[in-house]
Amino acid sequence: MDDQVPLVNYYTKSYSKLFESLSLSHSKEDTMNLFVGGEFQKFGYLEERILRSIGLESNWNIVDVGCGSGRLALRLKGFLEGQYLGTDLVDDVLDYANSIVNRPNFSFHRVEDCTIPSTENFADAIVFFSVFTHLYDEDCFRYLKESKRVSKNNALIVLSFFDFEEPNHWWVFDQALKNPDPNKVPSTFLSKSALRKWCEVLHLEIESIYAGSEAWIPIEKDIGFDDQSNPTGNAEFGQSVAVIRTSS
Ligand SMILES: C[S@@+](CC[C@H](N)C(=O)[O-])C[C@H]1O[C@@H](n2cnc3c(N)ncnc32)[C@H](O)[C@@H]1O
Repeated sequence: MDDQVPLVNYYTKSYSKLFESLSLSHSKEDTMNLFVGGEFQKFGYLEERILRSIGLESNWNIVDVGCGSGRLALRLKGFLEGQYLGTDLVDDVLDYANSIVNRPNFSFHRVEDCTIPSTENFADAIVFFSVFTHLYDEDCFRYLKESKRVSKNNALIVLSFFDFEEPNHWWVFDQALKNPDPNKVPSTFLSKSALRKWCEVLHLEIESIYAGSEAWIPIEKDIGFDDQSNPTGNAEFGQSVAVIRTSS
């Protein structure tokens, strides 16, 4: 793509620094868990349930952008027969994800710009869990454009985001305000109007937007979260989630 800018100057630098500082004071397993935000098993389960709720089938090809250390991949490995492509900026987390999944139809690739290393007409679903929460607007747009390029007709894009309309997301902004580190991992917010505009420009169709605090994910078992919440029936994701169709 001609409008790509190498990310090495900001995202890669900040994530590599985060990885290094976590690994200095934590075991490998804890580092891999904390790097993606913690509660590895529980959020992996919720991410899988989100995909099930949008119709995931075993023969789907999935692109998991910013797959991290494999929270979602681990949940899919016993089910998915189609191809899984996970991308990330950090070799160590990709290697870890590959080692815990270890399936021939799962592959993990490092990226250096907002591209998806895939041919056109590949994906049934492209997911960005906790990724647009750390990307600047231009890069969110670039990734949406890429998603459209690699998707099959009628594919789905799922992305989670922070939203100023959600009172529960304010702490994220507050924490960013108080963090003077110029190399911090950015925390970014998305407005629904920005998302609508990007989808209009790219001819994508927003199917649903779920507020972070909405209990909309059908779950089949109790999940006891670290904050003591224990949803049953339906669970919230915490971050808001948009489900977008690439064409109809
Ligand atoms: C909060 S973690 C979430 C990981 C995973 N999606 C999950 O839910 O477990 C964000 C991940 O996105 C990756 N990431 C950030 N910016 C990226 C980019 N521009 N392209 C690809 N991956 C990116 C980070 O390295 C990190 O692994």
